[in-house]
Amino acid sequence: MSPTLLLMTATAVAQPAPEPVTFAEHIAPLVYAHCAGCHRPGQVAPFPLLSYADTRRHARTALRVIRDREMPPWQPEPGHGDFRGERRLTDAQIALFERWVAAGTPEGDPAKAPAPPAVRDGWPLGPPDLVVKMDRPFAVPADGPDLYQNFVFPLGLKEDKWVTAVDFQATSPGVVHHVLYFADASGRGRKDEAAAKAKTGQPGFPGMGFRPTGMLGGWAVGATPVRLPGGLAVPLPKGADLVLQTHFHPSGKAESESLTVGLYFADKAPARTLHRLQLPPVFGLFSNIDIPPGKADFRVSDTFTLPVDVDLVGAGAHAHYLGKTLKTSATLSDGSERSLFLIRDWNFNWQGQYLYKDFVRLPKGTVLRGDVTWDNSAANPRNPHTPPVRARWGEGSEDEMGSVSLMLVAVNEADSDRLRIAIRLHTLEVLQASRRRGDRIDWERLGIPVPPEWERAPRGPDR
Ligand code: HEC
Repeated sequence: MSPTLLLMTATAVAQPAPEPVTFAEHIAPLVYAHCAGCHRPGQVAPFPLLSYADTRRHARTALRVIRDREMPPWQPEPGHGDFRGERRLTDAQIALFERWVAAGTPEGDPAKAPAPPAVRDGWPLGPPDLVVKMDRPFAVPADGPDLYQNFVFPLGLKEDKWVTAVDFQATSPGVVHHVLYFADASGRGRKDEAAAKAKTGQPGFPGMGFRPTGMLGGWAVGATPVRLPGGLAVPLPKGADLVLQTHFHPSGKAESESLTVGLYFADKAPARTLHRLQLPPVFGLFSNIDIPPGKADFRVSDTFTLPVDVDLVGAGAHAHYLGKTLKTSATLSDGSERSLFLIRDWNFNWQGQYLYKDFVRLPKGTVLRGDVTWDNSAANPRNPHTPPVRARWGEGSEDEMGSVSLMLVAVNEADSDRLRIAIRLHTLEVLQASRRRGDRIDWERLGIPVPPEWERAPRGPDR
């Protein structure tokens, strides 16, 4: 034995034995804080983690999914933006769970265990300023594919409002996977709903492609509702409807859902205007997304140069099942790079909107870049088709789309209009570039009226 090794062994012997890890003292606090929010009756997770018996029963699988960082679900990579409500276990917490399983999952003294967390009820943000309810329930079948249904809530607002938060209560929380909140001042939602109702008798209308006039936010399973930070709020014009795009995940038994939505308003217009930037714009509609079957690394990227100093408020991403990596980065004028957001292995089930813990300030001239890749190979376990099939841009769950997004404000509100116009122009430029390349967009298949900007744009050779 080498002297070093001898020394090490001696030290090891001299150290007190590590404290035994028990459920009561170590694992219960971890599981109740990081798992039980979803792993409880009436929530999406398939089994509860609300007691020693529950946790012991699932200990081995739990260890595997914790180690693989599949659970708790949290997509953004650490080191690429610092977000609120981060749901990641530390290496030390994972090591603790490993030690507990290795020791044979001992319970310890039950008297030392914390009480399981109380069921979330009522409105965590307090009573909403406006509550609306579905007038009829929506029937969710026991099984079959996931459903996307949009519900229209006429709000009857007599004046413009500013929304700081939206929350909802479900009658069958076990089937509601995520919800997007839109404002619709166009009446399109009502029309679509009336058309669909005539056919199916169900409330709402199907699809994930509703084109709103405003975005109010989103909620994904396990998320706690939050108010926008820094006194920010999004506009909700008088007369607008609220449209809720809801993703249902059948639970194994037939359920019916009747959602109640609560809106929270600001007392006055915010001092700074919130903007949204998508890279590429319109979820990649003008980025020639046409992914051949078997293609493992289909890429699209887009850049936008900041016309004014900005503060980034939040980041997010959207793609369908084949999305793989979604990345947002910034190149400053001195050439330095900063990563703002990264999802390495996109999982459609866990989309969310992420708010930076602190606003991220970026100076005028910074180049923002969005990179999206898709994996349409048979090796992608999330590919809905075996063998893979061609995936084009579209709004159905079989089609693809993808972009990263940022919520941002101008540092000086006086610059807000310049920022807004630059974002609009950027969309127009990307549209025109698509037209010049000769991209084919089958507007009829998409069910979208041909935009006048598209008709007017100089046209390249047909491909
Ligand atoms: C945001 C909600 C949420 C949180 C938080 C969460 N889970 Fe899950 N968990 C789910 C859902 C939903 C599933 C079902 C599989 C799926 O949809 O990916 C699941 C599945 C599982 C499974 C089964 C995996 C398999 O392959 O069979 C285990 C084990 C598990 N979770 C353990 C945990 C543990 C341990 C924690 C805390 C460290 C945790 N989960 C936190 C929602 C959650």
